[in-house]
Amino acid sequence: MDHLLSESYLIAVFMAVVLATMISKLRGKKLKLPPGPIPVPVFGNWLQVGDDLNHRNLVDYAKKFGDLFHLRMGQRDLVVISSPDLAKEVLHTKGVEFGSRYRNIVYDIFTGKGQDMVFTVYGEHWRKMRRIMTVPFFTNKVVQQNREGWELEASSVVDEVKKNPDAATRGIVVRKRLQLMMYNNMFRVMFGKRFESEDDPLLLRLKFLNGERSRLTQSFEYNYGDFIPVLRPFLRGYLKICQDVKERRLALFKKYFVDERKEIASAKPTGSVKCAIDHILEAQEKGEINADNVLYIVENINVAAIETTLWSIEWGIAELVNHPEIQSKLRNEMDTVLGPGVQVTEPDLHKLAYLQAVLKETLRLRMGVPLLVPHMNLKDATLAGYDIPAESKILVNAWWLANNPERWKKPEEFRPERFLEEEAHVEANGNDFRYLPFGVGRRSCPGIVLALPILGITIGRLVQNFELLPPPGQSKVDTSEIGGQFSLKILNHSTIVMKPRDI
Ligand code: HEM
Repeated sequence: MDHLLSESYLIAVFMAVVLATMISKLRGKKLKLPPGPIPVPVFGNWLQVGDDLNHRNLVDYAKKFGDLFHLRMGQRDLVVISSPDLAKEVLHTKGVEFGSRYRNIVYDIFTGKGQDMVFTVYGEHWRKMRRIMTVPFFTNKVVQQNREGWELEASSVVDEVKKNPDAATRGIVVRKRLQLMMYNNMFRVMFGKRFESEDDPLLLRLKFLNGERSRLTQSFEYNYGDFIPVLRPFLRGYLKICQDVKERRLALFKKYFVDERKEIASAKPTGSVKCAIDHILEAQEKGEINADNVLYIVENINVAAIETTLWSIEWGIAELVNHPEIQSKLRNEMDTVLGPGVQVTEPDLHKLAYLQAVLKETLRLRMGVPLLVPHMNLKDATLAGYDIPAESKILVNAWWLANNPERWKKPEEFRPERFLEEEAHVEANGNDFRYLPFGVGRRSCPGIVLALPILGITIGRLVQNFELLPPPGQSKVDTSEIGGQFSLKILNHSTIVMKPRDI
């Protein structure tokens, strides 16, 4: 019976979609869309191109259809940008028009339909949230307030690894320990709080819920309900899980972090050092934002700051293991500039040109957010003479801009020297539209100011204190990639041997 019902539902749905598509075709004005494969009714190009539109697959389509191409994914329009000039038009010249975010049904749940900052449309709410978050999170003052904490976290990783007998022999998955470090780095900034160990029960709950949030949002499993809205009833179970994870996660943030900080702050004398959430709660007291917005800010930092930076650290380590000559050149730079055994600190970073180049090269070849966070135009727009329908999902293939052999010398090679030689002028802040690991313009990553010093301190200290090697019997670590809706991670967390140096 159930079977018959769902079959007749499917047929009805199919007919309704065909009818709706035909009516909209008849009514709709003729648009001059960017080139792309010819869509079929209902599904558009979805069945041709599949779900996994990762940065590499999108390069293949760009080679076929050009630097600006269009895909119809069910009822949704997707536009992909693959040249620096077009990236400039979208992110800079027409930055307001294309400055909204594309939220699918799952992101709608996790952000309360855009009550956060990262996934909200371009407008009053975004401006207010970004302004309120800037002083507590995104200034050099925040770096100066927190950098000793980050240095302590890195040195505690070094100390613990030195004590682990496996590290120097069969190797360890150091990512696990670095994940604790990244949580501590960001929870110090947010709440003035840290976790003692990887097994801290509260950290375990937090990591689980953040992990579920990542898995559920980055999965391709729910695309059908997003692309073809009438199929949404079949996603009910998936969306219910999302709703449940979202509620448990926000409740955890509230109970164990925000409310606790409120109590601490009320007991502290005025004038004592504030952490980020104190500023955010002040904005709430002034009536600028509400209690939900506060929780969504915590949610945004949990997803935007911790794993992204961790992916880049992991990639950097893997590349250094696979390029021992680059690793020892980096170590020599630190020994020479700082002196052997003198631990790198944040104020040293500007003196370490090769370290900076290693970080830039990691972010170029292994760009953690290779398609940026999807942009969107709220209204009909034009781009390079083509019509872009309102609410199109706009992907800028930033990875390809930075890895296109027509624009970079041997881009497939991990060669930090390029940033000291032919690309010496290129910075990570978007001063060259071929290199946008943090985006550029209104929706660019404000966290760059924190991410770069954290990367420098962490990679620097690891290389100063250890020789990083592949595990016994292996000449390299595996650097296969895995992409999500817009992430680029290492597929297998590397096991690496970390031999303490005699210094
Ligand atoms: C290596 C680490 C990181 C990388 C590669 C990275 C990359 C990015 C990228 C590509 C975007 C989207 C830009 C666009 O759509 O045009 C973004 C947005 C954002 N990032 Fe980061 N990020 C990193 C670390 C951080 C950190 C540490 C924080 C916070 C402390 C942060 C906070 C944000 C926020 C709030 C946004 C949204 C901005 C907006 O929509 O207005 N990120 N990031």
